[in-house]
Formats: sequence, C-alpha cells, structure tokens
Amino acid sequence: MSILITGGAGYIGSHIAHELVDRGDDVVILDNLSTGVRENVPAKAEFVQGNVGDRDTLSALFKAHQIDAVMHFAGSIVVPESVENPLKYYDNNTAVTRTLLEACVAESIDKFVFSSTAAVYGMPHADELPVTEKTPTVPINPYGRSKLMTEWMLQDISHAHDFRYVALRYFNVAGADPSGRTGQSTPAATHLIKVACQAALGVREQLGVFGTDYETRDGTCVRDYIHVTDLAKVHLLALDALQAGSPSRVLNCGYGRGFTVREVIDSVRRVSSVDFVTHDLERRAGDPPELIANAGELRAQFNWQPEHDDLDHIVETALKWERRMMR
Ligand code: UFG
Repeated sequence: MSILITGGAGYIGSHIAHELVDRGDDVVILDNLSTGVRENVPAKAEFVQGNVGDRDTLSALFKAHQIDAVMHFAGSIVVPESVENPLKYYDNNTAVTRTLLEACVAESIDKFVFSSTAAVYGMPHADELPVTEKTPTVPINPYGRSKLMTEWMLQDISHAHDFRYVALRYFNVAGADPSGRTGQSTPAATHLIKVACQAALGVREQLGVFGTDYETRDGTCVRDYIHVTDLAKVHLLALDALQAGSPSRVLNCGYGRGFTVREVIDSVRRVSSVDFVTHDLERRAGDPPELIANAGELRAQFNWQPEHDDLDHIVETALKWERRMMR
C-alpha cells in the first residue's frame, strides 16, 4: 500500500512510519517540521516539507503519488496552550483537517486513520471508569473539542461519501522505539515520563508533582500509559482492517490499567538508578483524577496483542532516547 502520513516527522507519526516501511509499505510523509524532526523519518520514506492545510501542496502531492490511505497525525497537542490560544487549535486541528478531508474526498481516497485523544472524554466520573467508547464525550478544553469536532466531520463524511475511517483515542502515549530509531524529540514536551527522564538525567533540575490530594491510592493522578510501539501496531491493524473493507470505527488506545504519578516517578528512579528531586505542587487545572481506557473493544476488533505493557520497560526506552538526545 502507498500511505500518506501527515505529521510523520513527529513523535507518534515517525514511529508508525518506521513500522510501515519495515513491512514494505510505501510511505510519503508531509510535515512542516514545526515540531517534527527530519532525522526521525525513515530513510526509505519520501519526505515532503509543507503544510497540511495548504490545498495546493495536497493537490501536488496527490498528483505525484498514488495514495491508497491517509494517516493523519499533524496537529497541536498541548492542553494549556489550547486554553490560551484556542484559535490555533481550531485551525491546526480542525480547519486543517477539513482541508485534508476535502482533498481526500476529491481524490477518492477512501481510507483514513485519525489520531484522536482521550481528551474527548473530559472529566469522566469515577463510576464511568475505565472509559469505553460509549462514555459521553464532554471535552473540557479547546484541544479536546478541536479533536472531537474532527471525529464528527469524519462521521458525517463517512455517511455522505465512499469513505471509511478509524479514529484512535490515545491515552498516555510514552516510551520510544526499542531499537532507538526515533522518540519524543520536542524540546518543550511536558509529558510526565519524558520530563521525569529528563530530571533523572539532569536535563531538568527537578520535577513538580501536580496535585497530591486526589482521591486515588496515593493522592496523585492515575493514567493509562501505553508504549508508542504498541500504539504503532494498532495503526497498522487499523489500516489493514480498512483495506479489508471493515466499517468505520472509533477505538480507545490504552492497556486498561493505570499508574499514579508517584508510581511513574518510582519507576524512573528505579530504572535510571537516580534519586532525582521532586516537589509537590498545586493541582494542574483540567487534570482528571483518573483516566483509564477500557481497551476491550480494541482487542476484540483487531485481536491486538500488546508487547510492551510494562511500565519499567516503557521508562527504559524513554530514558534510552533521552540519553541519545543529549549526545
Ligand atoms: N504531571 C506532573 N508533573 C509534570 C507533568 C505531568 O505531575 O511535570 C502529571 C499530570 O498532572 C498528570 C500526569 O502527570 O496527572 C500525566 O500528565 P501528562 O502531561 O503526561 O499527560 P496528560 O494526562 O495531561 O495528557 C494526556 C495526553 C493529552 C490528553 C490528556 C487527556 O497527553 O494529549 O491526556 O486528559 F489531552
């Protein structure tokens, strides 16, 4: 198959690009390198630097390459930034995707895999955990809303046109390619496992723990951390399902278990053998106390077998990547 990956130089997109190239698919990457890194793209992938929202770039790309399916990762992902600058999110995540979808429909590209987020669920109640795909979607920030609006567009387009999609709602993606080809390279990344690894390696002086008075087993927030390579495999399965003619689907991507912030910190200390400093801070606005996926549907639909469901292993690969970034 020939696949267009938007945002293929980014953290998650580049992992999927490597997996697709490994199995012999043709990969074309469209990325403006605003946060992506050219070196993380597989050598065998075709690379086009440009904006997904630029209709002329898309037309030229579709003219030059016979694309069978699109995997869409390009977008903005920082929740607090989305609160301060909502229009950036409705542009980069919603309007840009509308342009891409318009081009897909015009070119009769009927298979689409979309990078969505658990942020579409907002603050689920304790009795709604773990969240299923049927849990009400009530996003509490522009980031989550901009992604949910895209899910709605996909749904409507799939009814109106010959077009099928899989929207994957990611929980907390972490870790790096175990063979060290790519990883989370955004310097301003704020994700817990990355910043904890940076604290262990002395790139940061300390780590703040946002909120220690939640009603969880140790007072800190619980998240479902999924290894990026297992998540990459889900995308390949989604693509294969669409290729085999399966209907559109929305699926949670997590393991169905959670770790607290303190448990993650303990893991990073254990794996790195560095007892780095942490400071307890006030709660961060908009953090749900607990967010865990019910991943039953993903396993049932795709017979997905995770291979990296081990917190220390996730941390080990993240740490290895951070060490590499320091060189
Ligand atoms: N945390 C800290 N200190 C830090 C960073 C994070 O204590 O320096 C805590 C957070 O408060 C949270 C947990 O670690 O309790 C995980 O935080 P992340 O920032 O790593 O991830 P989030 O759970 O906030 O974000 C994830 C996805 C988003 C998505 C969101 C939905 O990365 O894309 O879940 O809630 F929007």
